[in-house]
Amino acid sequence: MDVLIHAVVGLHIIGIAALLGGFMTQMKAMGKGEARMVPAMLHGALTMLVTGVALVGLNQAEDHTVNTFKIGVKLALLIMILGLVYVKRDEEKVDAASFGVVGAATAANVFIAVLWV
Ligand code: HEM
Repeated sequence: MDVLIHAVVGLHIIGIAALLGGFMTQMKAMGKGEARMVPAMLHGALTMLVTGVALVGLNQAEDHTVNTFKIGVKLALLIMILGLVYVKRDEEKVDAASFGVVGAATAANVFIAVLWV
């Protein structure tokens, strides 16, 4: 089961790569107010949700302690990210503030994941 948990953490990290990588490809455009929510960002955010929920279930099934408060904060931030990316996915120019929030919240979730025990 531990191998499965580690494999799902691997998929979780691939999700971060898609979400944050997609964001980074648009940073220059963001400065001009012309960024787009690229498909990789939507697919990455969905991957984070599916793999995150799976990780909670797998860890609980193995009686590993799960910090539910930390996971709740991560989930709340991801729902905001997913909502913004989904609603604005067809807009050709997303304002810098809405776009920047997605990158900032994703980066915040990375540090919450690794620094909050
Ligand atoms: C943008 C959103 C997210 C980011 C950037 C993110 C980032 C990470 C990272 C870097 C890890 C590895 C930490 C480690 O092994 O030390 C991790 C693990 C984990 N994530 Fe996420 N995550 C996100 C969303 C979620 C969501 C929505 C959930 C649950 C609903 C979730 C649940 C978990 C669980 C259970 C683990 C393994 C246990 C732990 O380290 O807390 N994640 N996440």
